[in-house]
Formats: sequence, C-alpha cells, structure tokens
Amino acid sequence: MCGIVGGVAERNISDILIEGLKRLEYRGYDSAGLALINQQHVLRERRVGKVVNLEDAVKTSQITGTLGIAHTRWATHGKPTEDNAHPHLSDRVAVVHNGIIENFEELKNTLIQQGYVFSSQTDTEVVAHLVTEALKTHATLLSAVQSVVPKLKGAFALGIVHADYPDELIAVREGSPLVVGVGIGEHFIGSDQLALLPITNRFIYLEEGDIAYITRQDVRIFAHNEHEIERPTKELDATVSHASKGEYKHFMLKEIFEQPEALQQTISQALNGNALREDFLQHAELDFKQVKQVQIIACGTSYHSGLIAKYWFEQLIDLPCQVEIASEFRYRSPVIVEHTLYVCISQSGETADTLAALRDTQKRAKAKGLHISSMAICNVATSSMIRETDHHLLTLAGPEIGVASTKAFTTQLAALMLFILKIGQVQGKIAEHVLTKMIEDLWHCPKVLLNTLQHNAEILRLSELFVEKQHCLFLGRGTNYPIALEGALKLKEISYIHAEGYAAGELKHGPLALVDNDMPVVILAPKDDMLDKLKSNMEEVQARGGELFVFADEHSGIAEKDRQHVVKVPSISHWLSPIIYSIPVQLLSYHVAVLRGTDVDQPRNLAKSVTVE
Ligand code: F6R
Repeated sequence: MCGIVGGVAERNISDILIEGLKRLEYRGYDSAGLALINQQHVLRERRVGKVVNLEDAVKTSQITGTLGIAHTRWATHGKPTEDNAHPHLSDRVAVVHNGIIENFEELKNTLIQQGYVFSSQTDTEVVAHLVTEALKTHATLLSAVQSVVPKLKGAFALGIVHADYPDELIAVREGSPLVVGVGIGEHFIGSDQLALLPITNRFIYLEEGDIAYITRQDVRIFAHNEHEIERPTKELDATVSHASKGEYKHFMLKEIFEQPEALQQTISQALNGNALREDFLQHAELDFKQVKQVQIIACGTSYHSGLIAKYWFEQLIDLPCQVEIASEFRYRSPVIVEHTLYVCISQSGETADTLAALRDTQKRAKAKGLHISSMAICNVATSSMIRETDHHLLTLAGPEIGVASTKAFTTQLAALMLFILKIGQVQGKIAEHVLTKMIEDLWHCPKVLLNTLQHNAEILRLSELFVEKQHCLFLGRGTNYPIALEGALKLKEISYIHAEGYAAGELKHGPLALVDNDMPVVILAPKDDMLDKLKSNMEEVQARGGELFVFADEHSGIAEKDRQHVVKVPSISHWLSPIIYSIPVQLLSYHVAVLRGTDVDQPRNLAKSVTVE
C-alpha cells in the first residue's frame, strides 16, 4: 500500500525522506518519488521500482531542501509509471496521496474545462490542481487546502507543499492513517510511525477529518469545521531495532522465530498464575455479560483466526459465533441482532474493508436503537480499529513487517482464546477446572512452539520437493481446517504456487479428482478426536498416487513410508493445536518461496496494510 513521508526542518531532509520511504517498503509499492522546496522552487525526482532507484536519482541530481514530501506508490489508478508516481505537481504545488479519491473523474473534467492540463492518469493530480485553483481566491495555503478537502470524496491522506510557502507542510487525514512526528525545531509526517522512528519517538496521531498545519516550530490541527483542536503528543517506546532483520535473511523468517516471545507477551498481559488477571478486560464485563452471540469480521489471515475462534466459542463456552469476510459483510446489510458482540480481527487495524464493516454496523445499530458492542483484536495500539471499537485486546506481536502475516496470526489466536475464557467466566459458562487447565496449556504453548521451530531444518529439506510443483493441497479437520486454509494462503502468496485448503472431509466431494502423483498433499494431523477419520483421508490420497507431507503429533502413530513424509510435531492440548500447526505451514511456505527465488517479504502485487478497498 502507498506510503507517505514528509517534513519541515532547518536542515536538508532529502536523506530523512528516503530513509522513511525505505522503512515503508514493507507495505508494498511499485514506484517512489519525492519533492523538495528549495529557494522557492519545487525540485522533484520520481522512479519506477525500488526506493534505491530514487535514492540514486537524488544522489545524481543532488537536490536538497528543508521542506519536502515523499511517497511510495502502489498503483490503483493508472499503471506503475514515472508519470503516475507521486508527488504530483500543479504550478507551484506538490501533493502526495494515499487512498482513493472516488469522484476524481468528475473533478478532473471540471478542471480540464478550466484549462488545467493533466500529466498523469492518477486520481491524485486533481488535488494539486484544485489547490492551485483555490489559491486564486484564498489568501493562505492552509485555507486553500481547507476549501479543497470537502470537495474530495473517498478515503485518503494527503501531504501538500507549495514553493511560495517554504516553511509550511499541510497534512490531511480523511480515512487513511497519518501521524505527525514531533522533533525539536522540526516536524515530520508519516503514514506509519515506523517511517519516522530514526528521528523521533514522539507522535501526534491525526484523527479522521483533521488538517494539520505544520511548520518548523509548530503543529496546529484543524477539524472539519475549521476550528482549531488539540491532539495529544504521545511518546512511543518502540525501538528502532524492531524494524531490522537482525541475523535473519528475511523479516518473515525473523517473525516466524519471534513467535514464542510474541505469544508469551500476549498471554502475559491477561494471566496471573493459573487465573485470568482481575483487571483483564474488566471494563468490558458488563457488555460481555449481555452478549448473546458473536459476529467476527476480518480479512485474509485474520479471517482464518476468526474461523478457529468459532470452534472455540461454540464448543468451549456454548456461545453462537458467525465469522465473515469483511468485504462481503460490509455490502450485505446483515441483520443486526441486539446484544451481538462484533469482533474485528486485524494485524494493522487499518484494513479498509474491516473498518467499513465495523462503521456501517455501528451506524445501522444506532439508527435502529439496538444495543450492540464492538471489540478489536489488533496488533497496532494506535490504529483506527482500536479507537473506534468499544473494547480491544492487543496482540503484543511487535511490528510485523513481512507482508505474509505470521506472528500476528498466532498471537491473534492466543488473544482470542483469552478473550473467550473471559466471556466464559463472566457468563458462568466455563467450569473452573477447565479454565485452569486451559490457562496451564496456554502458559505451556510458547515452549511447545519453540520446540516446533526446532524442526526447521527438516521442513527445509521437504520444501525442496515442492520447488517444481504447480499445485498443492492442504487438508485438516476441526480447528486445523482453517490452518489448511492458512497454509494454502501462505504458500500461494509468497511462492506463487497455486494452493487450496480443504476440510479433509470434503476430499471426496471434488478435490480428490485433482490428486495424482504430481500433487503434493499437506496434512495437519494433531492427536484429537478426528485423527482416525483423517488417517482414512490420507489413505484415499495415497490410493490415488498422491504424495503426502504430514505434520503429525509425535504420538499420532503416523510414520514415514513410501511417498509419505512425516514431521513429528510436539504434543499440545487439542484446543491449542492450531497455534502450533501454524508453524510448519509457515516454515514450509517460507522455504519453498526462498528456493523459488521470490521476493519473500514483499510478494508481487500485495501490500502489507490494505487501506483501500
Ligand atoms: C496474508 C495477509 C493478509 C492479511 C489481510 C488482513 O498473509 O497478511 O491476508 O491478513 O490483508 O490484514 P489485517 O490483519 O491487517 O486486517
């Protein structure tokens, strides 16, 4: 997804902008650019491809400036070309933009009639021309921008500079995240605070509708109605090292190996010995008492963790639970049932579809006078989702940089289990001894996860057998059916091998037709009530010449044989097995992708934080 960095300082900021863009590379992009204001001129460089291309161009042209904006673009309107790369200019204005301006065609037609000439296919360029036009009747850059923003429809963030205003940076947040980094005698903006961590750890989080007027000395924020408002400055304790690969070749591998710690952190916030902490989700108790059913809304990997939670909600605490992909839910106008708890699961907390589904539900419930409550399970404490839900539980996974979600997923599962235990306790639906045993198992989980990671070399060897394959099937049952879906998603997104995840019981209803001796079939085989049925499914695959790759409980009795490879997974309570079985599928996908030479951390066409529809 696109990234914005900008700043106003006394020193040249070109290097800071480039470094900021590099730190946003993980979001996925296809071109990059920057504009600097120097002696009342706009100096601009743009390049297709990686930020390093832009860096080389800036080194060659030696452009400098104390005010500037920069951008990584992930093409939405118009191809990834230099002409379409940001910043976009109009006369003396430069603009960078994240998100989408939905009514840009209508605005563009009017601007063309007024004599403006467009040099890109983007929706962004209209903003630059609109500001130029507005300056004909407005005395300041700020008031010109304030007059333009209400004309724009859609969800967006903007950074705007003008050659005649060499100490003014204007930032707009309207549906797409933007933070102001506070320095001493200098200020910066970023679409993710990560971009600015090398220069500051003090941030002002803009709210929807905010327009920030930023100079070297001052940050003034104006709400929709143009009234000036105060926003607090928050200090972050995240350290710069969080965003480095350290000893690992890829962020994804580092993040896979960070899971024992991430899990431990997530669990620790809720547990005290063998009990839930008294203050854990205390503020939500009243809502939890009244909850009659749960509706989970999420996308991608986060949706898969929701699918697992459904089994847990219904089997463990007898609470009905539905799970739906946010992009479907938001347009379906689902019936709102009073006392439903809407749970949004998201790593970023900024996923456009999930946020839209939440907002629409809240709006419709309010209009009908129905009491509902909302909860976010999220990895980013400062995200929109956390701010806009009644309750939240953080997954303490730390920044996840690799596009393919790994540690966010397993910590989501842990967080979901903790929150289910809490509701079960509040509603008196979980026996004390079950609760105690589950907490004991949760504490044990990071260790089991660590032991599972020890199988890395074995999984690497197996991955060599996938390199030439075109297709792959993943099969699981019960709570490991969503892990089969997740395994298939991981493999396809980073290795570009076509993969499908199925409930093993569905095999005979279609996918068995695909099985031949060129089709690897990955089986997730924890020791649970479904193991014997799963073994029958394995027979069905073998009988058709399929090659089995089985991640099996060490006590499952499943052994290596011809065309049946087995990795023994440490035993764990059947409830928590999906957390553990995530590990081998993550490692398998990772190694296959590395062997196939793909861009593991930034797979083609994908973005980390999907802030547009
Ligand atoms: C897959 C992946 C995506 C995300 C999805 C939702 O590895 O990362 O499928 O899970 O885009 O993102 P969040 O969790 O940020 O809402």
